[in-house]
Amino acid sequence: MTMLTQSPGPASVARSILRLNTAYFQAKVLQSAVELGLFELLAEGPATAAAIHERLGLRPRPGADFLDALAGLGLLERKGGHYSNHPEAAEFLVPGGPRYLGGSIAQHARLHYRSWASLTDVLKNEPVKVQQDFRKDFENLDNVRRLMGHMDAFNSFVAHELDRCVDWSRHTTFLDVGGARGNVAAHLVRVHGHLRGGVFDLPQVEPLFDEHMAALGTASKVSFTAGDFFADPLPASDVVILGHVLHDWPPAAREELLRRVYAAVGPGGIVVVYDAMIDDERDDAVSLLQSLNCSIMRDGGSEYTVGECRGYAERAGFRFESAERVESLTGDRVLIASKPS
Ligand SMILES: C[S@@+](CC[C@H](N)C(=O)[O-])C[C@H]1O[C@@H](n2cnc3c(N)ncnc32)[C@H](O)[C@@H]1O
Repeated sequence: MTMLTQSPGPASVARSILRLNTAYFQAKVLQSAVELGLFELLAEGPATAAAIHERLGLRPRPGADFLDALAGLGLLERKGGHYSNHPEAAEFLVPGGPRYLGGSIAQHARLHYRSWASLTDVLKNEPVKVQQDFRKDFENLDNVRRLMGHMDAFNSFVAHELDRCVDWSRHTTFLDVGGARGNVAAHLVRVHGHLRGGVFDLPQVEPLFDEHMAALGTASKVSFTAGDFFADPLPASDVVILGHVLHDWPPAAREELLRRVYAAVGPGGIVVVYDAMIDDERDDAVSLLQSLNCSIMRDGGSEYTVGECRGYAERAGFRFESAERVESLTGDRVLIASKPS
């Protein structure tokens, strides 16, 4: 553990360990600020503590500590008795911006934080409450909308990297399987004007896809096919994208999905898989923690190594082309494999 070996004295080592123990203090302060709409309020302009307390309904004593803790963490600025958003908070934490992370932070506050409390149980026993079927999450549209906001916080970063990793000049159509409300698809058709895209996802997602495409002005270039990717045929395409999908399922289901994708990809086409894949040496804590997150949130879910992913693709008939780490929130890897012409 680098953090520990760099620290000189015992107090410093002990503090480093305790920082791990109480890392959730910081997480909760950030999550509450998002839940309360603090960054949104300060986007209107600087405000005093008293004004913020009144608008958000905060008690003065913990409210004062809360605001100053956020300033200490670098998310707020405090000048002359007024608080304002730090420029980075303004960019990433005010709703409506292209890099807004609040959708994911709110989802972690509501769901992941509580689920992680069961880690010890998950390590020892079969999970009790986790779900495998997304349709249960999608029983009301607000749940779908919240999940889409959470996903888009992550996939927006990967979408930009896909521009670089894939030679789009060689292809004209793509299908984003489990492509949610089309955030990645919209980015690709906007940047690569010759592309026509499709999204394949569960029927409950379609109204949100329509809404998102209308907002982004990409409705004429991306179509939606509703279905179950384990049961219904996938529309034919030059490129099939599987992003943040395989980690939700156990290995046998991942292989099944790759076989279905192989049938949909045209000769000479490619499959593009992205996930926070684990390096083959298994020494990257970020992707290993992401993997635990998948195991907690989805029955049978986990991240997988690049080698395992290559195996899934090759057993489905694809030829491995490349795998590279990209600049994303969770250090994703993008693996590309081709279908022989
Ligand atoms: C973790 S999200 C990934 C979304 C997006 N690709 C991204 O990178 O953010 C998984 C997606 O798979 C979809 N999905 C789950 N089960 C499905 C199924 N059986 N058939 C079709 N889509 C499904 C979900 O609705 C969701 O949009």
